[in-house]
Amino acid sequence: TVDMGTALAWAPVPSPVLTASGCSAFGQELEPFVDLGALGAVVTKSVQLQPRSGRPTPRMAETPSGMLNSIGLQGPGIDGLLADDLPWLARRGARAFVSIAGTRVEHFAQLASRLRGVPGVLGLEVNISCPNVESRGEVFACDPVAAADVVAAVREAADPAQPVYAKLSPDVTDIVAIARSVSEAGADGLSMINTLLGLVIDPDTMRPVLGGVTGGLSGPAIRPVALRCVWQVHQALPEVPVLGMGGIRSGLDALQFVLAGASAVSVGTAVFNDPSAPARVHAELAEALAQRGFARLADAVGYAHR
Ligand code: DOR
Repeated sequence: TVDMGTALAWAPVPSPVLTASGCSAFGQELEPFVDLGALGAVVTKSVQLQPRSGRPTPRMAETPSGMLNSIGLQGPGIDGLLADDLPWLARRGARAFVSIAGTRVEHFAQLASRLRGVPGVLGLEVNISCPNVESRGEVFACDPVAAADVVAAVREAADPAQPVYAKLSPDVTDIVAIARSVSEAGADGLSMINTLLGLVIDPDTMRPVLGGVTGGLSGPAIRPVALRCVWQVHQALPEVPVLGMGGIRSGLDALQFVLAGASAVSVGTAVFNDPSAPARVHAELAEALAQRGFARLADAVGYAHR
């Protein structure tokens, strides 16, 4: 049997497979299908200081190769998360990797400080890359300086024991430049990738399907883009831990991300067709590693570069 243990920066986890932010809310929907405590962590839907209702409906559109969403960061706000969702996860022995979002640097820092020392909070994923904001100018992850400002403020405000991962956008010309900038600003790891900005028009109504017009594309369509980002960043910054995601729905998909340099992966859109996908991907990845003669997951991380 393969040793599947890994770490999110310095924080050890029993499995390299996590949920992906936004696709399974705060874990409740998956509980009937997955042993949440056996996953690496549950990555929560991005939380903000205040509850938010998001963008106009409809907010989901299927395409043959992937899904578009324009949710617009609907969520309960930090008070609800602290009062209900995090204690619920902790009672189940699940580690929470809490995704935080905001429109100003100070919002991110305040969220990080509210999460200091909270039981079961393994670390933070800083969502600087949501494509569904009113002005694309507000996507911090598309600018190396803005991205670094958020990450530095979060690292400063956060519990020193909690690793801080920055979630990057694929909608940039040079993802390595962004990765380098946020790493130098104090990111302990990188989550790659958020959704890719897209559009679907209904041929019958001849209008955009989504109420918010554009949306973030996820699922199999973006897997090669995500894999390319992980590859390029691991090549340039091999010491920086990477949480890989983008269309992973099988153990062989996950294996590609590990070989490209990811020390953990998130399974997101796949849960809409198969809520047991995170557990299944773990089992399939373990089998794929065993078949290839790996005794430890750690030995396969970045293998394709060597
Ligand atoms: O595709 C996404 N949708 N990415 C995010 O970061 C946030 C989410 C939303 O709520 O719109």
